[in-house]
Amino acid sequence: MDMLKVSGLLHVLVALLILQLCSHKDPSCSAATTTFLNNKTYVNYIKTSCNVTTYPKLCYRSLSDFANEIKTSPKVLAHTALNVSLAATRKTSKVLNRLSKTQGLNLTELAALHDCIELIYDSSYELRRCMIEIHRLRSENFAFGISNILTWASAALTNSVTCMDGFGGNYGKVDQNGDDQVKNTVLRHEEKVCRLTSNSLALVNSYASSQG
Ligand SMILES: *[C@@H]1O[C@H](CO)[C@@H](O)[C@H](O)[C@H]1NC(C)=O
Ligand SMILES: *[C@@H]1O[C@H](CO)[C@@H](O)[C@H](O)[C@H]1NC(C)=O
Ligand SMILES: *[C@@H]1O[C@H](CO)[C@@H](O)[C@H](O)[C@H]1NC(C)=O
Ligand SMILES: *[C@@H]1O[C@H](CO)[C@@H](O)[C@H](O)[C@H]1NC(C)=O
Repeated sequence: MDMLKVSGLLHVLVALLILQLCSHKDPSCSAATTTFLNNKTYVNYIKTSCNVTTYPKLCYRSLSDFANEIKTSPKVLAHTALNVSLAATRKTSKVLNRLSKTQGLNLTELAALHDCIELIYDSSYELRRCMIEIHRLRSENFAFGISNILTWASAALTNSVTCMDGFGGNYGKVDQNGDDQVKNTVLRHEEKVCRLTSNSLALVNSYASSQG
């Protein structure tokens, strides 16, 4: 049986279990039912919203843990996506810093690595600004704030692409079987950052149009 069937079956079982328990009109149990239903609504909201992104599976996977905070708010969804992107950027920064200290790198690799480290540092800054800005959005400054966020998130995305270009990585095409360790490590991490940032942009954009 494949995973989809197993998890589908599990959902039915959980639903049946709750229905059965709740026929007793136990108040704590109906609270549990509400949580379950809300959670399902929230998770579906994320799934539907992620459909506008270029990498919907990654979008859903990276955000569904925050379903209970996001609820059905496009603003919190966009904010959380930016934060997830920032966290991945910071992690990549650490990995690349460590990588740059390994022995035996040649000058070409070192130069590309240092360029990436600088680009990623800038990206973290841009994404942090995005998060502050989305927090500050009010109806009076909405259009201006959104355009700032889109500008800064686009800059972060461009940095990711530029970093990958430095390693000859075609955007979206990591060479999984290549034997170049440095290149593979950079591309693997940076591609994820790139995709998360692209998704954040799409979610900010759809948040903006939901208010328009
Ligand atoms: C909500 O649902 C998700 C996915 O089905 C699950 O991982 C998570 O633990 C649930 N959270 C709560 C609070 O029930
Ligand atoms: C996502 O979009 C596709 C095609 O536009 C559609 O078939 C699918 O039902 C959508 N999924 C969700 C969860 O909205
Ligand atoms: C962003 O994510 C980090 C974990 O990566 C978390 O500690 C922090 O509270 C989050 N910030 C916001 C504003 O959601
Ligand atoms: C540096 O190392 C990489 C990976 O091993 C290799 O592809 C590249 O040709 C090297 N460049 C120089 C100038 O040695």
